[in-house]
Amino acid sequence: MIPQDVANTIVDPKAYAAWTPIEEAFGYLRREAPLEQAQPEGFDPFWVVTRQDDIRAVELQNELFHNGDRSTVVTTIEADKKVRALMGGSPHLVRSLVQMDNPDHGNYRRLTQGWFQPQNLRALEERIRVIARGFVDRMAAHGGRCDFAKDVAFLYPLHVIMEVLGVPEIDEPRMLKLTQELFGNADPELNRSAGQLQDVDQALLALQGTIADFIAYFNEMTEDRRAKPRQDVASIIANGMIEGKPLGHLEAMSYYIIVATAGHDTTSSTTASALWALAENPAQFRAVKDDLSLVKGLIEESIRWETPVKHFMRTATDDAELAGKKIAKGDWLFLSYPSGNRDEAVFDNPYAFDVTRSPNKHVAFGYGAHVCLGQHLARMEMRILWEELLPRLESVELDGQPRRMEASFVCGPKSVPVRFKMN
Ligand code: HEM
Repeated sequence: MIPQDVANTIVDPKAYAAWTPIEEAFGYLRREAPLEQAQPEGFDPFWVVTRQDDIRAVELQNELFHNGDRSTVVTTIEADKKVRALMGGSPHLVRSLVQMDNPDHGNYRRLTQGWFQPQNLRALEERIRVIARGFVDRMAAHGGRCDFAKDVAFLYPLHVIMEVLGVPEIDEPRMLKLTQELFGNADPELNRSAGQLQDVDQALLALQGTIADFIAYFNEMTEDRRAKPRQDVASIIANGMIEGKPLGHLEAMSYYIIVATAGHDTTSSTTASALWALAENPAQFRAVKDDLSLVKGLIEESIRWETPVKHFMRTATDDAELAGKKIAKGDWLFLSYPSGNRDEAVFDNPYAFDVTRSPNKHVAFGYGAHVCLGQHLARMEMRILWEELLPRLESVELDGQPRRMEASFVCGPKSVPVRFKMN
């Protein structure tokens, strides 16, 4: 078993906010116990998969390692019991692609997959560039100081994905708030009860409230798009057919929710983290500013560096062997993407931020059948932002200590104060 203090650290939202304890815990595990069981206090035991090869091996065998059989996010025994009681035995509050296995997973994924392919996204390039330029102008208007996370990085990917989905601009603050409540449920500054969460019941109530608000919103949207379909992703979900029938209600709502949350929070975290790293590494900033062909390298390195999705869980559907260990049917596995992205067997100098890193074989978008649906959109919108921002940004430095969210699932910086000069 993994030592208790390490087991407790890897599920502790405060450790992710402090970040060094997380780097240390996973560094230790990759060295000493790369695939071992952990049982943090209050949790069922689970295997912690820390090396990139093992993460890829699990993700490729998606009949042997299911998403949907147990919670896809690490959760306490008490919370799991309560969710199952609420959801008629299911361990999930929502049922998006992430909670599905085949045949549903393939069927639901195919519905929007083509839309998110590079050939289709190319048509959006010019529109996204206009949006990016607008945010660069807004940053310039801050007059040399801003909180890059709150003033730019949270808002630009939000605007892009809401246009793609079909949510009007006036509702963006609401979507941002609900997303932050969902992923920031453990963070006293972000959760729905403004820090007052005392126990599992309150935390669950807060989550249910957030999901109910999303559902109320997307119910209306479904009606609208059924009556008047448009060229947006909401119209595909509202009018989609799976094996000759409309999507199930929970499945449709969950589809909107995953696009409206994972579709910006991840890209926001990566963008905020990238500027934080550039501000701390002036030579890297200079290199990419002077040679915009390095923007692609900057993007891959910032995705590796931040790894905004910190874990997903899988469940063994049968007895299996992995890296010489015997996994039993029903066992739960914790895939640590940040650990895979610091794996010394894959990366030279993994703790250095290097925009010239090549190859950069990270697993931040996952792997296999569930690999991120929005990866091409995420890369494209970040590329366009940096292509527009870097030529105008003459210098940047930190203007105070950046702060990270308290969360162990989807998270990143919540504040990156900077001082800058722009032309
Ligand atoms: C799934 C990361 C941006 C939508 C995932 C997964 C990861 C991830 C790790 C799970 C993959 C697996 O289980 O193997 C990221 C990162 C992003 C990002 C790092 C940005 C830097 C986006 C965007 C969208 C999106 C812009 C917009 C639609 C999804 C969806 C899934 C997913 C729908 C579920 C796919 C499935 O289970 O089949 N993402 N994501 N993501 N992502 Fe992203």
